[in-house]
Amino acid sequence: MSDCRYLTFALGKGRLARKTLELFEQIGITCEEMKDKDSRKLIFVNEELKLRFFLAKGPDVPTYVEYGAADIGVVGRDTILEESRNVYEVLDLGFGKCRMCVCGPREAGELLLHHERIRVASKYPNIAREYFYNKKHQTVDIIKLNGSVELGPLVKLSDVIVDIVETGGTLRENGLEVLEEICPLSARMIVNPVSMQMEKERVKDLIYRLRNQIL
Ligand code: PRP
Repeated sequence: MSDCRYLTFALGKGRLARKTLELFEQIGITCEEMKDKDSRKLIFVNEELKLRFFLAKGPDVPTYVEYGAADIGVVGRDTILEESRNVYEVLDLGFGKCRMCVCGPREAGELLLHHERIRVASKYPNIAREYFYNKKHQTVDIIKLNGSVELGPLVKLSDVIVDIVETGGTLRENGLEVLEEICPLSARMIVNPVSMQMEKERVKDLIYRLRNQIL
């Protein structure tokens, strides 16, 4: 291990990173430095295993991995689909399960059936475009929002939204429903294509051990 280079991981900040580190601990990969909540450090190192970790905003994780600033990333499938980066998606980590859906008030279901030109608000304009234009062949106006997307239909900014549904609680509390399901989501491991070649053995070994742990 002593003469190999550092393998660098970019983890999506927050719950995803915490769950990832829990899973890594189960296969013997720890990073004590990262557990110090008061630390202002951005990069954490496990010298013994020659691993480096850093936390990034979810949508930036595929960017770091595509450019090789990180060899490996962990991020939600929603972000992978939205960002369309040149990375290999190698493993479903099995946590962070939720769904990407078209949601709105019940009446808006009619607008979806008749292919009307509707307004769609979303934090995920590329996923929304791909779904409506390429899958449903429906011309829509897409409005990008950065959060609290459920507000869209409530304040008549949009007819429907494309958003993540986990428990469905946010929709219920705001009188909205799932109208159509786009795809299932969960946390995924992504790898830089060059790292996949150059560090084949280490990456393959990691995938193998994680897969066995997840089963
Ligand atoms: C996400 C998503 C929904 C909500 C779904 O929002 O955009 O609003 O969670 O979860 P639920 O089905 O369990 O209610 P998030 O909390 O990430 O905040 P945001 O609205 O700022 O994106």
